[in-house]
Amino acid sequence: MELLFGGCVLVVVTLTLGIGLGVGLSCEGKFRCGTSSRCISISAQCDGIVDCEEGEDELSCVRLSGKSSVLQVRSEGEWKTVCSDEWNSALGVSACKQLGYARYVESSSLPCSSIEQDFQNNLISININRSGLQQAIKIHNASHLSKTQCSSGRVTTIKCLDCGTRPRFSRRIVGGNVSASGQFPWQVSLHFQNEHLCGGSIITSQWILTAAHCVYGFAYPTLWALHVGLIEQPVNGAQALAVEKIIYHDRYRPKGLDYDIALMKLAEPLIFNGYVEPICLPNFGENFEDGLICWISGWGASEDGGEGSVSMHSARVPLISTKVCSQPGVYQGFISSWMICAGYLEGGTDSCQGDSGGPLACEDMAVWKLVGATSWGQGCAERNKPGVYTRITQSLYWIHLQMEVSREGET
Ligand code: ARG
Repeated sequence: MELLFGGCVLVVVTLTLGIGLGVGLSCEGKFRCGTSSRCISISAQCDGIVDCEEGEDELSCVRLSGKSSVLQVRSEGEWKTVCSDEWNSALGVSACKQLGYARYVESSSLPCSSIEQDFQNNLISININRSGLQQAIKIHNASHLSKTQCSSGRVTTIKCLDCGTRPRFSRRIVGGNVSASGQFPWQVSLHFQNEHLCGGSIITSQWILTAAHCVYGFAYPTLWALHVGLIEQPVNGAQALAVEKIIYHDRYRPKGLDYDIALMKLAEPLIFNGYVEPICLPNFGENFEDGLICWISGWGASEDGGEGSVSMHSARVPLISTKVCSQPGVYQGFISSWMICAGYLEGGTDSCQGDSGGPLACEDMAVWKLVGATSWGQGCAERNKPGVYTRITQSLYWIHLQMEVSREGET
């Protein structure tokens, strides 16, 4: 009897605790600190004052939005577009740092009326009187923000990296579908214990983006070596780049297909030379239309169950809308907001085993952007089974957050 009673108390205690924790975890209408389960008010997020133990409430407070990379800051629970009045390049350096970039290229301004409607409201300007402060600050620090009329009517756009160009690629006809030198200078070959296992894309001089399923269970930097700037798979002894850190999305599960994204940080930064170049990340809210012709590339198999290729192959594939890709007979019930489909419903051209993690790249006004990372498909190139890619616009917060956190403490 006593035992039974004890048991009951235990159950009740666990239940209350469980429910209590559950409520704590949801943090309804509040911001939840990642590591603890503390909840703080939304207005305390991105206000320039650290409230969470690890400072999570002051991360991801800046983003670039829309086709023209307009700068937005989060404040009082909303994203606001930064007016170009009082803007200067020192602020640009801080903004790029907060996005996780090591560098800053340039800022410019655009008439507010020329950007996407969604980003036109809610303008803010950043005023800093004491120039000495500028290096250290985070630009969203509330004491420097003010609601504004934005008298110039212009908003700030910034560029943190020269990316998405192919300076060494000359448009000649390529034999079959073997890639030409310099055609996909952002393509990386990820070697696991000296063998090509997956693809990846160069997104900055230090970061390679790939799929979580490529590294899950093997996220130990010393097991990996990266090769860049190549067409033919390297023979033994070819120079390989060391990995310093591997991060995959913490919600990725090997049984699932969502959150299939990972980053590898290189031990030494890359030197860009035309054969090795970064691809641009898209911006928040950028839309890539169905039917847009993009490119996939890699050293994957040329048929389902086949061997990997010695030379890098590439193919043109159109983007497929989620609506079409989720139809019965295609991937009904499987396509989430973290995925984007590309390829042909009639089959014939697709990515395949060994291409995973590699780029789905689309050209947009002479700049190449990373729209997807090769993730999964049923078989390869089968009818009604196009390739499915991790949707990069959905992953931007995660990507920038990882890069930002990893830069903290750097000067
Ligand atoms: N999961 C595969 C890999 O690890 C890539 C699959 C892509 N499949 C497709 N049919 N597009 O390499």
